[in-house]
Amino acid sequence: MGNNNPLKTSGAFEMLAAGAGVGRDMLAADRTGKLEFTHQFGLNNSTRALGPQIFFLGQAVRRLHDETDSARDFLRGFSHIRRDLKRMHKSFPVSRSGRFAHGLAAEAGQFTESISFDWRLWKQDVLGSKAHATMLQKIGLLTRSELRAILAALAAIAKDIEASKFRWRVELEDVHMNIEAELTRRVPAGAKLHTGRSRNDQVALDMRLWLRDETTALVTEVRSLQRALVRLGESNRDVVIPGYTHLQRAQPIYFAHHLLAYVEMLARDQQRLQESVARLNVCPLGSGALAGSTLPLQRELVAELLGFVDPRGRPQVTQNSMDAVSDRDFAVEFCSIASLIAVHLSRLAEDLVLWASSEFNFVQIADAYATGSSLMPQKKNPDVAELVRAKSARVIGNLVALLTLLKGLPMSYNRDLQEDKQPLFDTADTVRATVRISAAMLENTKVNRQACWVAASDPALLATDLADYLVCQGLPFRQAHRAVGTLVALAERLGKQLNRLTPAELQSVEKKLTADALSVFDLNKALARRKLIGAPGTGEVKKQLARWRKRLD
Ligand code: ARG
Repeated sequence: MGNNNPLKTSGAFEMLAAGAGVGRDMLAADRTGKLEFTHQFGLNNSTRALGPQIFFLGQAVRRLHDETDSARDFLRGFSHIRRDLKRMHKSFPVSRSGRFAHGLAAEAGQFTESISFDWRLWKQDVLGSKAHATMLQKIGLLTRSELRAILAALAAIAKDIEASKFRWRVELEDVHMNIEAELTRRVPAGAKLHTGRSRNDQVALDMRLWLRDETTALVTEVRSLQRALVRLGESNRDVVIPGYTHLQRAQPIYFAHHLLAYVEMLARDQQRLQESVARLNVCPLGSGALAGSTLPLQRELVAELLGFVDPRGRPQVTQNSMDAVSDRDFAVEFCSIASLIAVHLSRLAEDLVLWASSEFNFVQIADAYATGSSLMPQKKNPDVAELVRAKSARVIGNLVALLTLLKGLPMSYNRDLQEDKQPLFDTADTVRATVRISAAMLENTKVNRQACWVAASDPALLATDLADYLVCQGLPFRQAHRAVGTLVALAERLGKQLNRLTPAELQSVEKKLTADALSVFDLNKALARRKLIGAPGTGEVKKQLARWRKRLD
């Protein structure tokens, strides 16, 4: 990554943020995804793994409740949620204050809440609030001491969340209102934080911040996978296999050349990710609900604080408030790039599945990355590769879900947009896990050199080389192609290999085919002859391996 890399803007932000008192601990998004919502309720390990969403759906909770003892224990920890939901019709979160005579019906609360999944945005939400508060003080809408109190309380809240001590309240709908409500409970000035801000621009901000970190992290993972491919290629640099078209043996290639094809695909993916950050890295805050604000907000200051700057350090802010609150192009773009990565990995996985079969027997996937059959004791199945292949389906599904969600939405913000999160989160998680496991699997894959050599030694793979030989003897290529085709048919009829035809048999087809023509069938020489840029020749593959090793260092 060069100096101009927009992915590096967070570095600039760290400096600015330090000056503005925005905590460094908040700078990095939760990259592990390990902090699960259930964890927030202080649950034990066995229940933590069950995942957050289901517990808000009454049906699922009941089913689970009936099923296991541990689930029963677990639900005790959730009692407050059921209480909270019951209380809902009497309670008034800030978004309903004044205007509403009644609270939300419990089932409407369950149906509309997003806290069960958008809690993941908590770091970004706190970070955005710190920047917004810093700006509010600058324009005189918060006093210095109010700002200090807000920043300290936000930091304390973040700490509680991290330590699983924060109590998320479903009646507060989402991560934004949960954090704001708790802030206001702790410091009265919290009631001023939402000045000039709407959840509509807030959520757009949080999503962009979250995705910026995710994209950066994915770029790193993709590079690790590229490294694994290059390493496997390098440690088998002399291994030759048949290259295939139509899944039929075509021409010999180095095994490393095949792997480097994926390194190239992943390089384009990585470039796409990096380029997408330039469009993503624009600050929507200050767009309000849809129409900005009458207050003299300093949008560019907030943008700078949050690292929304171009490579030259100039703040980037959205230029149309309605677009800013309803735009989810960045999510679609990420899901689209992620789909392509998933498709590339799916192809790689399919190659591995084929190579690991007895029919090919080119590779052996380590036991640690293979599974057995519950019935057939002899089986060793490439399940990890198969699931890598399969994961592309849901990643593509998520992309289609997002596009469908946006299609036909009237301007500007609509609650539909809340449904952007699960597909986006799931895509980021799935693709990251897929990239990571693919790298691990490759690191633990052995090449069966002997089987590769046997497959690559089929002289028919060099039929084109023989045609090229005839071209060098002055024969037009079409004539050469036909002559060699006739030879292949003859060899087949005689039940011998192409390089075993006698001089007389060669001559019977084409006079220019003298005995020395058979020298084209020397595999090593044949590979050395492939000197074009991008060809699977000995020198060229060596060069490409070295190029990638250097680029990936
Ligand atoms: N949870 C909402 C979402 O994810 C936040 C914005 C809600 N805005 C509103 N006007 N209801 O989109």
